[in-house]
Amino acid sequence: MKKLDLKIVRNHFPALDNDWAFFDNAGGSQTVRIVGERIQDYLFSTNVQLGATYEVSQQSGDRVIEAQQTWAEAIHAKSKSEIVFGPSTTALIRNLALSMVQQFHPGDEVIVANCDHEANIGPWIGMEKLGIHVKIWKIDPETFTLDLDELRKLMTEKTRLVAFTHVSNILGTINPIGEITQIIHEHGAKVCVDGVAYAPHRLVDVQKWDVDFYVFSLYKVYGPHFALMFGKREHLKELPGINHFFIGENEVPYKLQPGSMNYELSWGSTGIIEYFEDIYSRHFEDNKLPLH
Ligand SMILES: Cc1ncc(COP(=O)(O)O)c(C=O)c1O
Repeated sequence: MKKLDLKIVRNHFPALDNDWAFFDNAGGSQTVRIVGERIQDYLFSTNVQLGATYEVSQQSGDRVIEAQQTWAEAIHAKSKSEIVFGPSTTALIRNLALSMVQQFHPGDEVIVANCDHEANIGPWIGMEKLGIHVKIWKIDPETFTLDLDELRKLMTEKTRLVAFTHVSNILGTINPIGEITQIIHEHGAKVCVDGVAYAPHRLVDVQKWDVDFYVFSLYKVYGPHFALMFGKREHLKELPGINHFFIGENEVPYKLQPGSMNYELSWGSTGIIEYFEDIYSRHFEDNKLPLH
């Protein structure tokens, strides 16, 4: 591995081509050049109705499919239909809760961690109004970590879902996501993990962790203001749709992407992986970015 060539890296970010140094990267990263170029190219050359037979429409549709495929490979999902795009992590989890609550019954239980971002707390707490019992998994005030025995004490046969963060944006601790998920699955519940503060720093591997739902924001990973949610295909299929009534239950992920999805940002976001590939190939002998 060669020493990181900062000139090459900076060259990927037009916003850094001046005297400014931005230190607010926890709130969002700068955008890679090729992401911006792809957004523009989508709008200027393929911004047409999807699903028609003419060439530009086909190309437009192919770009959206390629975006799903690219992200499925990047996070090690089994298929592109496990990728749900949306405007933000907050909106995606809110939509997930809107759909999932229709599967719950009064008396069912949901657990949320108190070190989460509001995006993965509010939608679940809101279920209380519908008779869902919400329990709080509190961090240990001495160690600032999530204690797995505390989780075991909170779990019952009525627990349907546990929402927790992979990395708290306040604490920075990397929670043992695989171990936590295993405990939750042993009790027959699902997990919804906020990966927003993890995804910019490490490789996401949803199969390795066996998570049910995993959500993160692309504007913190050098992309546009856009986000993605991974959901296991069997769970997405079971979820009631929140899109137009005529979009069928088997139309995954469309039934969970209400309204017109942002095609230009989907296509633009593929540039993030292209950026990683370029940096990797210039610094490592084997050239090929080892995603999974
Ligand atoms: C850990 C964490 N989760 C969720 C969010 C919300 O992300 P979004 O703005 O995409 O809704 C943030 C935003 O800073 C965050 O830091």
